[in-house]
Amino acid sequence: MIIIKLTKGLRDYLDKQNFTGKSIGFVPTMGALHEGHLALIKECRKVAKLTICSIFVNPVQFNNADDLKKYPKTIENDILLLEENGCDILFLPGEKEIYPDAKSREKHYDLGYLETILEGKFRPGHFQGVCMVVEKLLNIVDPDYLFMGQKDFQQCLIIERLIVLMHKNVQLIICPIHREKSGLAMSSRNVRLNSDERIKASQLHKSLVSIKNKLIENNFSALKNKTIIDLEKIGFKVDYLELAKRKNLEIITHFNNGEEIVILVAAFLNDVRLIDNLLIKR
Ligand code: PAJ
Repeated sequence: MIIIKLTKGLRDYLDKQNFTGKSIGFVPTMGALHEGHLALIKECRKVAKLTICSIFVNPVQFNNADDLKKYPKTIENDILLLEENGCDILFLPGEKEIYPDAKSREKHYDLGYLETILEGKFRPGHFQGVCMVVEKLLNIVDPDYLFMGQKDFQQCLIIERLIVLMHKNVQLIICPIHREKSGLAMSSRNVRLNSDERIKASQLHKSLVSIKNKLIENNFSALKNKTIIDLEKIGFKVDYLELAKRKNLEIITHFNNGEEIVILVAAFLNDVRLIDNLLIKR
């Protein structure tokens, strides 16, 4: 694996290769890699000729300074994992490379309704920051395929919109959520959970499965209220638990048979914020 820190270095390298008929796949991350990230790398290798991963802890997408400070950094291990999993290039830019000056952090994206709900509502500015870095990375890497995880389902829809806004010719491939045996969705933030919290955290996924099993056209509100009470009893502080249409995240309480829907949850366990979701086709 080649590690490249500068934009110019990466562009020079890619421009020197003859990529006619070959394809570039890109997996952007913030590091502290786990099996969920590696599943994206594996999927990328199946589809694209060249697999590029980036690691950059993007300060502008953190709406909480403490969360940024505590974000886990495990770069040596990340490099080993990427090598073991056949990544071709790691792009590892410093902050100045992505944000050379104050102006480079100023762009505003018209994300419409998607930015006003769920993560957008509870983490103001978060998706603006995500778009800022992903736009820059897409322009630098210029991939044919972009791999992202369903774990951050709303982020996937935001990036779909960004790609339209950018008029970029790149195909977004959304990969399924990778989970621990307990059902807990893998996340870089999970290392901040102690063993007791880890057991409790798995209840989040179990709650979604239980809702899915009991869900009929019009009983979501009752299931939601009971689930929030149960989660709060074991120590969660729930930001949201919502049912939405899969295609546009319109929040709903009733659904029609045949509709593709998704249940989404975000909750704090002490000071660690966890998110999860479950797609449902009825
Ligand atoms: P990060 O949280 O590092 O996640 C990088 C990618 O891995 C995202 O597409 C995310 O959805 C995916 N991912 C995380 N956990 C996963 C899991 N358990 N199963 C499958 N995929 C999983 O998301 C970001 O970084 C940043 O916002 C980024 C897009 C890199 C922009 O800074």
